[in-house]
Amino acid sequence: MTEDLGAVQADLLAAVQSAGDLKALESARLAAIGKKGRVGALMQALGGLPPEQRKDYGQAVNALKQAVEAAIELRKADLEASALDAKLAAEQVDVTLPIRSEVEGRIHPISQTIDEIVQIFGQMGFQVAEGPDLEDDWKNFTALNIPEEHPARQEMDTFYLRAGEDGTRPVLRTHTSPVQIRTMMSEKPPIRVIVPGRTFRSDHDATHSPMFHQVEGLVIDEVSHMGHLKGCLIEFCRTFFEISDLPVRFRNSHFPFTEPSAEVDIGCTRTNGELRIGHGDDWLEILGSGMVHPRVLENCGIDSNKYQGFAFGMGIERIAMLKYGIPDLRTFYDSDLRWLKHYGFVPLDVPGTLGGLHR
Ligand code: DAH
Repeated sequence: MTEDLGAVQADLLAAVQSAGDLKALESARLAAIGKKGRVGALMQALGGLPPEQRKDYGQAVNALKQAVEAAIELRKADLEASALDAKLAAEQVDVTLPIRSEVEGRIHPISQTIDEIVQIFGQMGFQVAEGPDLEDDWKNFTALNIPEEHPARQEMDTFYLRAGEDGTRPVLRTHTSPVQIRTMMSEKPPIRVIVPGRTFRSDHDATHSPMFHQVEGLVIDEVSHMGHLKGCLIEFCRTFFEISDLPVRFRNSHFPFTEPSAEVDIGCTRTNGELRIGHGDDWLEILGSGMVHPRVLENCGIDSNKYQGFAFGMGIERIAMLKYGIPDLRTFYDSDLRWLKHYGFVPLDVPGTLGGLHR
């Protein structure tokens, strides 16, 4: 006498379905299709059947076995998914929570400096814009009025990637200036943005790192002129270095994407190899700037007869080193905890122009 296969199948499927975790499912699997399981017993019964019934019976048991196996696979996938969900829920970290005061971690000087820059320009009405590290040739160079044969392309020591379908090679952005292009193509004037971010150049020595940071600024409207550029950058330098009468000098220069262009120097003294920011007989260059070249505006579809504005760019490591007396650029990226304890900032001291930029 053979068992009712339909009833056995219903039984086994119910056991699979009701397995509450992977362990229970494994027990259900062994009980069904394990060596001593019920399907094995059904197969053994085959030998006791009259030969003409064996074929149909064998096929029916096989079908039953396949149905049970399929159900096990499904249930397993379900259980694994909910185990993962439970794990994710249990290990959830709310990164927006304030840090616990007893935590010993420090804010890296680069992050601190970016926070300070954002704070200062934020109060002047600038918003933060961002762009990707990987840029196309057009936005990093051509749209910024740096055509194919321009010497600035060589000077930049660009990291190129393999050419894409259109034959041009993507680059690791050599400056934050391509975000000027992104912003002008996606937003209508008035525009007032600063862009802190990573930049890359194939250059590595005591004063150059292949990855470093810049902050770009861009103002586009119908009226902003060189006087606004000067006022804005003088104010920034004095607030950032916390010297209210810091001498700031605008020196004629050249950049392909601005006309006229100016480099900005701040006053300093150099005595016995020690550099001090402030009043003195010497100057130190800290940033590049200028009125956005009409061709750059046109490249972004902005009418250069109606709109104008200014841009600037500076190296973040450089001004952080100057402000916080950090002598070696390479130490920024060493991840040395002793260095970070010394030069880092306490997380709860959020920089503000009222409460102080750093404490
Ligand atoms: N992109 C320039 C560089 O990396 C810096 C710069 C100069 C940016 C003048 C500007 C600018 O926006 O107006 O050397």
